Amino acid sequence: MAHESQVAIVPGSFDPVTVGHVDLIERAARLFDRVIVAVLTNSAKQPFFSVEDRVAMLCDVFKGRAGIDVDTFGGLLVDYARAKQARVVVRGVRGVPEFDAETQMALMNRRLNPDIETVFVTPSETTGYVSSHLVREIAALGGSVDGLVPPIVVDRLAVRRRKSTLRQV
Ligand code: PNS
Repeated sequence: MAHESQVAIVPGSFDPVTVGHVDLIERAARLFDRVIVAVLTNSAKQPFFSVEDRVAMLCDVFKGRAGIDVDTFGGLLVDYARAKQARVVVRGVRGVPEFDAETQMALMNRRLNPDIETVFVTPSETTGYVSSHLVREIAALGGSVDGLVPPIVVDRLAVRRRKSTLRQV
């Protein structure tokens, strides 16, 4: 039987992309033929980086990486997945509270479209504590984010901090 190419979506805010996201995306790329990293455009949350900046950072991190594409989406995730002919959504689950929230989202997405399966991936033991939220907080307070985000993101966070420090003087 011919192998049907399996497309998986890794959706998220990626505000900004962390080493935890990179680990998750690389794990997804080992499981599926093609991975689409999809940045949500119409989040209710006030973003730290613009969608364009977040996409640019992700593209930089995965440039030349066969089988991994970066895209944006708005509206329902299941509608986007259907449009991309993807039957799988991959989410990283770092702990129990996240498992609860992710299970709720996975079940809601299944209700919306039973053809789409959500796959939970366990993070690396070295990146499982990293989150975009903590990275933003550390960067804003002048702490080092080296090793928590890809080097391009370290640079962008430093630029952001310099700009906000300049605005304060
Ligand atoms: O990185 P995040 O912020 O945890 O990602 C959340 C995301 C983008 C996966 C989620 O908010 C989402 O899928 N939003 C799209 C709107 C949608 O489909 N809502 C119904 C989900 S039950």
